[in-house]
Amino acid sequence: MLPKPRTLSHIPVYTPGKSESDVMAEYNLDQVIKLASNENPLGSSPCALNAVRGMLETCHRYPDQHSRMLKKTLAGLHRIPESRILVTSGLEEMIACIGRAYLTPQDTSIMPENSFIKYGISVHLQDARAVHVPMKEDCIDLQGMLDRIERNIKIIWIASPNNPTGTYINEASLKWFLSSVPDNILVVLDEAYREFADAPDYHHRTEHYHKQYPNLVILRTFSKAYGLANLRTGYAIGMQELLEPILQVREIFSVTSIAEAAACAALEDTDFVRRCRDLVIGEKARMYPKLDTLAAVGLRYRKSQANFIYIETDLDSGTLFTELQRRGVIIRPVGPKAVRVTIGTPEENSVFLKECAEVLAQHAK
Ligand SMILES: Cc1ncc(COP(=O)(O)O)c(C=O)c1O
Repeated sequence: MLPKPRTLSHIPVYTPGKSESDVMAEYNLDQVIKLASNENPLGSSPCALNAVRGMLETCHRYPDQHSRMLKKTLAGLHRIPESRILVTSGLEEMIACIGRAYLTPQDTSIMPENSFIKYGISVHLQDARAVHVPMKEDCIDLQGMLDRIERNIKIIWIASPNNPTGTYINEASLKWFLSSVPDNILVVLDEAYREFADAPDYHHRTEHYHKQYPNLVILRTFSKAYGLANLRTGYAIGMQELLEPILQVREIFSVTSIAEAAACAALEDTDFVRRCRDLVIGEKARMYPKLDTLAAVGLRYRKSQANFIYIETDLDSGTLFTELQRRGVIIRPVGPKAVRVTIGTPEENSVFLKECAEVLAQHAK
């Protein structure tokens, strides 16, 4: 008999979308449009790509385990000590390590019902308990989360903008929430999509919040607005005492020097981030009136502060997903009747709108 792994059946499974080449082969298509993973419609910052090329000679060397160059750049940019920054191989690793560092089977963790699936996975991997708080009109219900606080709560996870709903927490509500959570509970605020938020009351400058709310850790990534998803780089800002245990359970060489150099260059390339943000904001504004017209065939959507739109239809999401895939557009089902569509280039978005309208019209008949 082969060795038996520990029981894993209670751990939610994260299924990434199919690749473009898989879909092309399956449906015999020459071209597909991938709007499934909230990637950058403009690709990567050219400065970051140059930095990658410049680092190729170092492939035989182990990277700097502390990513000092990146921490120094971030510390200068945000005017905080380097000791309050931790770099990981994308936020996925950060989220897993937070669970590893903080949770035991006796602990409970609170998270929104409709948010990034990795929070739940991180909690269940430690055999801790997860409390999922229902959403309020697709927004995170902060009061609902506070109501669930009890003795065993160790971590509260929130994302703003939230994936997959694209809704956000305004600055005043965030501050009220943070001052209401007892200091012995770790609050993880995931800002993976922060660069796309244009609401005037969005919490744009949280880098110094940890001074007032010492139990807060904020998360940021280079995968979205900086277009470096393949290089797997994210970071946290928080009190050193909170970050040290996370570093202790992180893989030692998890961030490559190539990724680090690319991230440093991308931070300097403010023009690229601005172009990407302008494109995403402009395209959402162009798409909303078109989506409004699809209400007639059962489509509803939420205005988004991120680089994707949360859409519900009368059709089940699996059917919409498969029908669009057959037509060469990959989106992401995120609920029985809900899908999430990444903002692509104007051409890609137009194809999505046209194909989506046709599929819904066909099924509405
Ligand atoms: C809310 C949220 N947090 C974190 C991540 C993970 O990002 P990374 O690519 O840095 O692992 C994602 C990825 O889609 C996300 O949507």
